[in-house]
Amino acid sequence: MNPPLLELRDIRAGYGGISALHGVNISVRAGHVVALLGPNGAGKTTTQKVAARVHPVDSGRVLYGGRDVTGMSSRDAARAGVCLIPEGRGVFPNLTVRENLWMMTFTGKTREQIEDIAFTRFPILKERAAQTAGTLSGGEQQMLALTRGLASDPAVLLLDELSMGLAPLVVEKLYDQVAEIAREGVAVLVVEQFASAVLDMADHAAVLVRGRVEYDGPPGESLKKELANLYLGSAS
Ligand SMILES: Nc1ncnc2c1ncn2[C@@H]1O[C@H](COP(=O)(O)OP(=O)(O)O)[C@@H](O)[C@H]1O
Ligand SMILES: [Mg+2]
Repeated sequence: MNPPLLELRDIRAGYGGISALHGVNISVRAGHVVALLGPNGAGKTTTQKVAARVHPVDSGRVLYGGRDVTGMSSRDAARAGVCLIPEGRGVFPNLTVRENLWMMTFTGKTREQIEDIAFTRFPILKERAAQTAGTLSGGEQQMLALTRGLASDPAVLLLDELSMGLAPLVVEKLYDQVAEIAREGVAVLVVEQFASAVLDMADHAAVLVRGRVEYDGPPGESLKKELANLYLGSAS
């Protein structure tokens, strides 16, 4: 079998001497969606920043396609096809939808190619093309953020709290698109605090509690039952 496109091995990382991750192991294969769940402050965002080489590790290894890239810069990680869509969407609110898309021409694609990616997947964005991104609904902003990620033809897509503040129906639609992206061969690591929508489409789930992976297995009913205990345990 091919090695996973993304692998974190025994990662320890933190902020100014305070540890946030205490030996985290996660791997994501091509075409798979892994859901990384956990309560607020568990270390989910830190894990994604480590995966994208935006945050340094204290120890452990990061591998892309079996290659050790622990020393790689975030810029080179992006070039290697690892795309982080951060929490809060990362769109430019004062630019129009079309201008936001044009910002992606640094990926080497033409304006037309990027608009095509956006408008084929999310036709509503075409209707909103001349509107400033800040006036879009939350779901539409997230579509724009997803498109900006896809314009770079990622091998690994890291999504942080995609569903934050969105209505369940909107979240479901976004996750349909994420599933579709994975089917095209992308390795997707989705971080969510609130689990239900993502578990229905994930291939695998991990639950992070206080910087440790406390569950690593299938995303089915047994996890849904266990989740409340895992989250409650973290509150003490
Ligand atoms: N920039 C930062 N400076 C100091 N501590 C941070 C910073 N970002 C996160 N932390 C701490 O690291 C831990 C993990 O945070 P984070 O990865 O953001 O968790 P999550 O995304 O699961 O909510 C928390 O205890 C948080 O307070
Ligand atoms: Mg977070």
